[in-house]
Amino acid sequence: MRVGVPREVKVQEHRVGLTPMAVREYAHAGHEVIVQAGAGTGIGADDAAYVAAGARIVATAAEVFAAAEMIVKVKEPQAAEWKMLREGQLLFTYLHLAPDPEQTRGLIESGCIAVAYETVTDERGGLPLLAPMSEVAGRLAIEAAAFALRKPAGGKGLLIGGVPGVPPARVVVVGGGVVGTHAARMAVGLGAEVTILDRSLPRLRQLDELFQGRARTRFSSVATIEEEVLGADVVVGAVLVPGASAPRVVSRAMLGAMRPKSVLVDVAIDQGGCFETSRATTHDAPTFEVDGIIHYCVANMPGAVPQTSSHALNHATLPFGLALAGRGERAMVDDPHLRRGLNIHRGRVTCAPVAQALGLPAIAAEAALGM
Ligand SMILES: NC(=O)c1ccc[n+]([C@@H]2O[C@H](COP(=O)([O-])OP(=O)(O)OC[C@H]3O[C@@H](n4cnc5c(N)ncnc54)[C@H](O)[C@@H]3O)[C@@H](O)[C@H]2O)c1
Repeated sequence: MRVGVPREVKVQEHRVGLTPMAVREYAHAGHEVIVQAGAGTGIGADDAAYVAAGARIVATAAEVFAAAEMIVKVKEPQAAEWKMLREGQLLFTYLHLAPDPEQTRGLIESGCIAVAYETVTDERGGLPLLAPMSEVAGRLAIEAAAFALRKPAGGKGLLIGGVPGVPPARVVVVGGGVVGTHAARMAVGLGAEVTILDRSLPRLRQLDELFQGRARTRFSSVATIEEEVLGADVVVGAVLVPGASAPRVVSRAMLGAMRPKSVLVDVAIDQGGCFETSRATTHDAPTFEVDGIIHYCVANMPGAVPQTSSHALNHATLPFGLALAGRGERAMVDDPHLRRGLNIHRGRVTCAPVAQALGLPAIAAEAALGM
């Protein structure tokens, strides 16, 4: 198959759909890969690296879209991009269609076959193409918090790990899933005093095993969250209730009772945020203060480290992308997990939650694929 990789055009997006490593895998499997000039600049991969991996470089996105049978990207297509998609062309990328009627309409009208990273599943019920970005965001959350605790950054002037004779910062992680586990690992590694709250007992048992006493676990309730948050220097919000807005675990009323200049990192901001006072911020101005408490609420945290994020994302997308390139839409007939990624098929919505959110008719992916 002829596979195309355009340069990302969304503001502040420096990741790339295929790294040179992945291009070499596609070429090795007999596929032709067309890459737009400069597509890998943001991760330090120049055009020569792509040529060495077996790609052909073209100057414009229009050439990529015109020539390719499948487009591999990172971010949802922007208006200029979805206008270049055509009937039957495969699109493999993050889409996040539920809150985006305009893009959804654009993809429907194009007639393309749109497979969304975020709805592909695995055999344990997880979301394998979201997990790498949660790993990155969880680890970054502690870096962001450590920085925000410093005086020159407007913080309280606390070293997160302390030093001998001086206690470390108290880090509370609400939600012990992928984000929470990676945040806790970083915090423990830096020597902080760490507590993880979750509502899932199986998850708390796993965390207890994993951390071997180096992080405390607590059942998440109104009372335990309040107790932990009021004594914290850093609170990481990492909760997720699949398919729902993030539950609000910290109210505005609690801020006044917290230690002054403590830091709230709301990783769940992309699902609406789990602190009442959160509002989405950008890497250019990541923090703001409410009632003397510093808030960090960047909605695309992995965008700050596009090299790490692109490699991590490619490791996860590679087997699915190769399957699509090898067997076209038949790959989704063969693999129920990849099929869960199908959001739009030749003008029809095949993802029930997207259809429901936008008030559109839906057709089962199986029916669309002729199964
Ligand atoms: N801001 C960013 O750049 C960024 C990047 C990646 C992920 N995220 C977001 O981070 C959030 C967490 O993602 P994840 O991959 O870790 O999800 P996950 O499903 O792996 O973990 C979520 C955890 O929250 C727990 N939980 C649910 N309700 C709770 C409550 N009331 N109290 C305590 N725990 C509760 C669940 O039991 C689960 O263990 C999601 O909203 C995700 O979209 C944001």
